[in-house]
Amino acid sequence: MRTDIPQPVRLADYRPSDYLIDRVELDIKLHATATRVQSKLSLRPNPKGVPGAPLILDGDDLKAKYVLLNGAQIDSSGLFLTPDQLRLETPPQEPFHLEIETEIDPTANTRLMGLYRSGTAYCTQCEAEGFRRITYFLDRPDVLSVYTTRIEADFREAQVLLGNGNRIESGTIEGTGRHFAIWHDPFPKPCYLFALVGGILGSIHDRFVTRSGRDVALGIYVEPGKETSATYAMDALKRSMAWDEEVFGREYDLDVFNIVAVSDFNMGAMENKGLNVFNDKYVLASPATATDTDYAQIEAVIAHEYFHNWTGNRITCRDWFQLCLKEGLTVYRDHEFSADMRSRAVRRIADVRTLRSQQFPEDAGPLAHNVRPDTYLEINNFYTATVYEKGAELIRMLKVLIGDEAFHKGMDLYFARHDGTAATIEEFIACFAEAAKRDLTQFSLWYHQSGTPHVEVESAYDKQAQTLTLDFTQSCKPTPGQDTKQPFLIPIAFGLIASDGAPIALQAGGSDQASEDELARGVIELATTRRRVVFQSVPTRPVPSLLRGFSAPVRLGNSSSEADLLTLVAHDTDSFNRWQAAQTYATRQLLHAVEVVRSGRKPIYDEAFIDALLRVLEQSSDPAFIAQVITLPGEADLAREIGENVDPDAIHGARKALRQAIGEGLKPNLLQTYQALTSKDPYSPDATAAGRRALRNAALDLFCAGNPEEGLPLALQQFESATTMTDKIAALSILTAHAGPEREKALEAFYATHASEALVIDKWFILQATIPEPETLARVKSLMQHAAFSLHNPNRTRSLIGAFATGNQTQFNAADGSGYDFLAGIVLELDSINPQVAARLLAAFRSWRSLETKRQGLAEAALRRVASVSGLSPDVKDIAERSLG
Ligand code: ARG
Ligand code: ZN
Repeated sequence: MRTDIPQPVRLADYRPSDYLIDRVELDIKLHATATRVQSKLSLRPNPKGVPGAPLILDGDDLKAKYVLLNGAQIDSSGLFLTPDQLRLETPPQEPFHLEIETEIDPTANTRLMGLYRSGTAYCTQCEAEGFRRITYFLDRPDVLSVYTTRIEADFREAQVLLGNGNRIESGTIEGTGRHFAIWHDPFPKPCYLFALVGGILGSIHDRFVTRSGRDVALGIYVEPGKETSATYAMDALKRSMAWDEEVFGREYDLDVFNIVAVSDFNMGAMENKGLNVFNDKYVLASPATATDTDYAQIEAVIAHEYFHNWTGNRITCRDWFQLCLKEGLTVYRDHEFSADMRSRAVRRIADVRTLRSQQFPEDAGPLAHNVRPDTYLEINNFYTATVYEKGAELIRMLKVLIGDEAFHKGMDLYFARHDGTAATIEEFIACFAEAAKRDLTQFSLWYHQSGTPHVEVESAYDKQAQTLTLDFTQSCKPTPGQDTKQPFLIPIAFGLIASDGAPIALQAGGSDQASEDELARGVIELATTRRRVVFQSVPTRPVPSLLRGFSAPVRLGNSSSEADLLTLVAHDTDSFNRWQAAQTYATRQLLHAVEVVRSGRKPIYDEAFIDALLRVLEQSSDPAFIAQVITLPGEADLAREIGENVDPDAIHGARKALRQAIGEGLKPNLLQTYQALTSKDPYSPDATAAGRRALRNAALDLFCAGNPEEGLPLALQQFESATTMTDKIAALSILTAHAGPEREKALEAFYATHASEALVIDKWFILQATIPEPETLARVKSLMQHAAFSLHNPNRTRSLIGAFATGNQTQFNAADGSGYDFLAGIVLELDSINPQVAARLLAAFRSWRSLETKRQGLAEAALRRVASVSGLSPDVKDIAERSLG
């Protein structure tokens, strides 16, 4: 337990370390409650540090057995030791050795940081600051060391012993029932990339030969008996390795690459050098237990962690403020990988949906922060959608601005120049400025200003003069600590189409013309608060298609007429904007309907919109794309669009009514789509087959929304006969959303079939936690008593409590405040078990200020209740205080 008050860390205070650690030799004797860690460090003063400075090693909750300096005891006046620090007052000013032994209890480690047990296995999580829970160290990413790790364990407890790098030795210790393995990682790395695993694990193995001929042994380790469920992950790994060679010219650099799946994990996965540790949710998949979305996520996370080997490990971060240097870039890389493996258009839509639903609300509320923050109280709270998803958008935008060729030249320069170092965002951007021969100072503001810019466009066509005038305006609301913003550099990819869909050639003219370069690229660069662009020789009134492919992470105010939106839905060559036009139309309808519902009337919907959906549905093209078009914006998306005085019940009512209207209006068509897509083919997780299932299930869902008496029997039939988890969970989700006896029967049957599959039971919890009915809170509370639930397991906690708080808008935001009180109580209870997960749950309050006044008051009271408790973890304290700030 920390007793000191945590102090904020500031980027401006960065100084190089006064000491460096060149080599680390660890000898770790695994024991369930008393693991011994002997650490031999080769240190030297850093030429860039302060000469003669004390040596201060970080610790967290450690128990030291002994400390030796150059093999000898240290005079007690020169050594200060607490559970959180080891301080040498006057260290030698030449290279020296320090030997430290600590004893730690992995079983008592419920925070899942450092060395802990998951099931019967031992595993580690060191990012961001977990290594200091194993031994005293300079726990900062700019201290790079070569590690040799000896792991010893009882053979019956841990047959498998894995570490970073290559295994150089192993053997048994006669007469003790114990054995050991020694791993050596030749690549200098920061301690957050350290990992070890010990346990009784099943495994699958394969090989990958790199293009320069290195033969790499691949292994995936899972709970015994689950080996066959790791084959898709192995396939994704091999495809990732080949892709990174082909697209980024990056080869793997060790003889071994291992992945271990564990069931207790705070985040998604971790890129430890040569030994990735994963939340098993992102490894295990079989058609009977995993949905198509699960498969796609496994592919993406496997790729993400693998890609970190270059963007994160070979080049790491100088300090944690630079987190987006590795995360934003690596998310960008995994997005590109998925786009190449699947449908690029559909991936882009899905990625933008995620950005808007996760990152935009963060940017619009009290937790808004820069992609490159400049201060933090608890770094774990900055593994956010802003750092990851917006960070990825900034890379994509950079590529739009400088073009593909300069982008890849810049990447190559970055790899060549910074390999083996801990770098900064400034150094990264400098590579692209050099490659593109362009000043990127204004572009860099994206890293230093939080908030989502808003772009308004006025378009005017002059038939006489045959000119089109576009007037752009940008603005950005204040965010915490940033009252005013400088204009962002916003690339707006665009095109003009005629009302029949024919593209219109672009000709600039007059003093307000776009540059030749902008026209050639089809990108207007908005660099000032206002900009006017005039196009000449435009023969007919065009429909502008703006922000194609979502070329910048902004909100685009859309004043296009409904007729223009319909033109875009039908004809735009940019499929992202075809989808966007349909979403914009739907959003407009829904926002109007929310007002109608609030005034106590019944909303009516525009026939033209439903007709447009029909025309999309009738196209036989890409089913995955059609599924995206007919899926309406979510309740949280609408709340974000409304922005203030939000009433979640009215939003729910409006959305439900539109779904019903579509279901009724397109009744025969939805049924026909559903029936036509029935497949007898054997299961394949590929994007085409998944797309057909997505459309089929989206059609059934809308059909049921409008015609429950005919639809629910179909859903029940699908539920009972489904051979894939995708179809089964889609049907169960429909049955669960409709109150009635079928709901409870189906839920019970599902549990009985899948009781032994934790990841499937997570889905069962999610479905129940998200029922939009007043009885749900009581259901959630009673499910907490279920034998399958535990607050100690992050996946379970996220599935029940997290899904209720973030996926159930009406019940979490219940008008009586009961949802808020519930969450506050859980956060306080969980804080003493796992503060990181507790803080994440608390962030569900991030949009509280946009609610109507009564709910605002209740949410604020719940947040204050949390903030007022003494002895809070820095994690929860930070979120509570910033949310209220
Ligand atoms: N670097 C990991 C990733 O690939 C995330 C690990 C974060 N863990 C943590 N405890 N903050 O995204
Ligand atoms: Zn990452």
